[in-house]
Amino acid sequence: MEIQLHDKHFVPFISADELDKAIAKMATQISKDFENEVPVFIGVLNGAFMVVSDFMKHYKNPCELSFIKMASYDGMQTTHEVKQLIGLNQDLTGRSVVVIEDIVDTGNTIEELQKLFADKNLKQLKFATLFLKPEAYKKDIKIDYIGIEIENKFIVGFGLDYDGLGRNLSEVYQLK
Ligand code: IMP
Ligand code: MG
Repeated sequence: MEIQLHDKHFVPFISADELDKAIAKMATQISKDFENEVPVFIGVLNGAFMVVSDFMKHYKNPCELSFIKMASYDGMQTTHEVKQLIGLNQDLTGRSVVVIEDIVDTGNTIEELQKLFADKNLKQLKFATLFLKPEAYKKDIKIDYIGIEIENKFIVGFGLDYDGLGRNLSEVYQLK
């Protein structure tokens, strides 16, 4: 069923079941790659809160979790300036860190995150994202785990918002 958020109309795009399957698959893959260590997952707020929650339920091995808050979007426009709103206060020396994102669009946010972790003496840094818009992604940074690739159109739901609204939708909707 079509929904309206502020002035825009959205149509159903990806079902809760498909989202769950994509997240479960990422969790399985990541569990295999980090079998013999305790990775630190870093969720990127606000958007990634639902992805992280479901991902953690599917991840059965020992792991740690922290959040970082970044913002680059203003309404429907990505801005070049990515602001860090809540930072990290944990020693990550020698640790394997996996950043968990809701969506990678231009890649500005993950580029900023890569810079942020550059001097933290990590063992390794990996990026996982539920959604990737390949047509919009302009960076060379490798995205190690990708849930679902989508066309370059605005989506909401499952943590993603349009001007604050839509984060609570359990399915993903696409701009009509
Ligand atoms: P990037 O920095 O351009 O890669 O954008 C990353 C952030 O912008 C994501 O983590 C989201 O919070 C937001 N974003 C990008 N595309 C969308 C979208 O289609 N709907 C809602 N938010 C989006
Ligand atoms: Mg985000």
